[in-house]
Amino acid sequence: MPNTRAKQINNRPMASRNYSSSSSSSSSSSSSYSVSRVSSPKSTMSKPSTMISNDDTIYTPSQEYSQQCHVKSYSEYQEMYQHSITNPSEFWGKYGSSLISWFQPFTNVMSGNFVNGDITWFQNGKLNVSYNCIDRHLETKKDKIAIIYEGDHPDHVRKITFYELFLETCRLANLLKSLGVRKGDTVAIYMPNTPEAIYSMLACARIGAIHSVIFAGFGFDSIVSRVQDANCKIIITADEGVRGGKTIPLKKKIDEVAIHCPSVQKVIVFKNTGGPIDFHPAKDIWAHEVMPEQPPYCPCEVLDSEDPLFILYTSGSTGKPKGLVHTQAGYLLYTTMTHRYVFDIQENDIYACVADVGWITGHSYIVYGPLSNGTTTFIFEGTPLHPTPSRYWEMVERHKITQFYTAPTAIRSLMKYPVSYAEKCNKSSLRVLGTVGEPINPEAWRWFYKYVGEDRCPIVDTYWQTESGGHLVAPLPGGIPTKAGSATFPFFGIKLSVLDPQTGKEMSGNNVEGVLCVNNSWPGIARTVYRSHTRYLTTYMKPYPGYYFTGDGVKRDQDGYYWIQGRVDDVINVAGHRLGTAELESALVGHNSCAEAAVIGYPHDIKGQGILAFCTLKHGFEDTEDIVSSLKIEVRKIIGPFATPDVIIITPSLPKTRSGKIMRRILRKIACHESTPEQLGDISTLAEPEVVQFLIDKVTACLPKHH
Ligand code: WTA
Repeated sequence: MPNTRAKQINNRPMASRNYSSSSSSSSSSSSSYSVSRVSSPKSTMSKPSTMISNDDTIYTPSQEYSQQCHVKSYSEYQEMYQHSITNPSEFWGKYGSSLISWFQPFTNVMSGNFVNGDITWFQNGKLNVSYNCIDRHLETKKDKIAIIYEGDHPDHVRKITFYELFLETCRLANLLKSLGVRKGDTVAIYMPNTPEAIYSMLACARIGAIHSVIFAGFGFDSIVSRVQDANCKIIITADEGVRGGKTIPLKKKIDEVAIHCPSVQKVIVFKNTGGPIDFHPAKDIWAHEVMPEQPPYCPCEVLDSEDPLFILYTSGSTGKPKGLVHTQAGYLLYTTMTHRYVFDIQENDIYACVADVGWITGHSYIVYGPLSNGTTTFIFEGTPLHPTPSRYWEMVERHKITQFYTAPTAIRSLMKYPVSYAEKCNKSSLRVLGTVGEPINPEAWRWFYKYVGEDRCPIVDTYWQTESGGHLVAPLPGGIPTKAGSATFPFFGIKLSVLDPQTGKEMSGNNVEGVLCVNNSWPGIARTVYRSHTRYLTTYMKPYPGYYFTGDGVKRDQDGYYWIQGRVDDVINVAGHRLGTAELESALVGHNSCAEAAVIGYPHDIKGQGILAFCTLKHGFEDTEDIVSSLKIEVRKIIGPFATPDVIIITPSLPKTRSGKIMRRILRKIACHESTPEQLGDISTLAEPEVVQFLIDKVTACLPKHH
């Protein structure tokens, strides 16, 4: 119990905003939401922590702050958590009934298990997600702002009420219907972060079509494989996107894609920048021309709790990206609950998540969770550094944002600039800060806490995945004291297990390290991999029978806090983007010069992990700058610019066992500058041990040591 060990110190009002002293443990009590920072007294520790954090400071919300939250204390969290674990049917049944609007009530809360992979929630319930996100709010919140949009240019602001959201969604739903889209059909959405992306998702949900949002940074091959795998009938896109002052020709990409995807009958194009496009009358439809003709009311399809809501592709350790399938009721309830409790959402909040709708964070925490809760949600098309590194904090000031949810990589990129960029903006509206996507290093956590949250706002470090639908491990602002860099404790209904990766045995007690699994079903879990249930079972359910395997390593510290250690498989997290090393390797060997490639992640100061590729060339090709840059271009083209390798090392061979298996373990060590013989271990079994020294020299020359 963190509260028993944490001693609260007095809040002292800060005389000035002088942040130069890093040892200060004072906090601002000028706001009713002050958080006091307390140090855990070392004398009461059972054992000094040797393994996890070098900072045991526990940040505890003040009583004044907690009193205004949904969950007001650690004991209240524990009570609710215990209830959710001991009686999940009762717990989720209660919230399922009260937080979701049903056309027909469910008859049973949950069934199925991980061994069979036949999870279902809220059987026989009938509902519509679009109804839950829009229609049910119209009676009381018709004129409330549902969406605030900021474009890349700070003057480009639009505000959309719930009623306007209703009209636009209905018109688009009717347009889709007029094009023959029916329940169960798949629609691809390749859109910039604009309100129209949200209309598109909700229009599909309204008519029971399954959307597959494809991140607008993806390149040709990634789009084609997704559209083909899901057999999409329609693609919804925009002329162009704009980020950081650069335009991104989205429609042009879709023109190339459509040629290779015979399933695509029509392309609906939204006008975003007004930039030129090639318009193909047989296939293309300008949304702004045809939507006004559509009736502004479209009835909601009555859907079953377990009908699919969307497919979202994500990278795994092997093969093609997997299309995770989320269904209606469980996903909706889980995002509604996590959004409400983890961000402590109150009626008048202006909640901002600056992720992209193309990733699960955008789905769950820009669109479904917030809108289901009737919350004003913010959507941002631009980047944190444009036009200046004050951009985020100017948005906070401009819109009086109350919750701000971003990625550690964005925080790290902003930390490079003088703190005056953050300090000069009025951030007094902020109440909760959030991070997602990768482990946050304590230094970035503290910067965020101090310079953005002004020592006043709890940080919710939310650990979760595309597969989980919503947060798995995260603090509750008023109820769970935080430690810099820990996602703290499981959300309601999540029973975490730390398993020994060798034996698969559960490791009980505190101060343990292993792989993270969940050993009970929760409403938000993806139900299958599209068209490949076997792959779903093999990836998540088979590695540790009876458990859902997250793919992440974890430590549970002496206080029971969870610290996510990153992936234990061949997945890397680059600036919050999830990539499979196999995908990158296959893009590289697709280039005519490349014989073989091994890709690994290496520690990167800003991006968390950078991409390092080792390539051997085919006969007749030489290690030149041109070859390296054309290999990079190949990856940009095939997967997308965000996947461009940071460093490519051309090597005469790769370290392999005599049976031909690439020894990635050795490559990873070399990339972390752990290259003494003791660190590398026995390399005598390699087919060509001499290549190791060659690679060490290369890495020393081109990769800086990580700090
Ligand atoms: C990582 C993003 C540490 C983790 C929502 C996970 C995190 C993968 C955190 C999923 C966090 C996400 N702390 N690691 N707070 N959040 N991750 O599917 O490795 O894009 O397995 O979902 O991101 O990435 P995905």
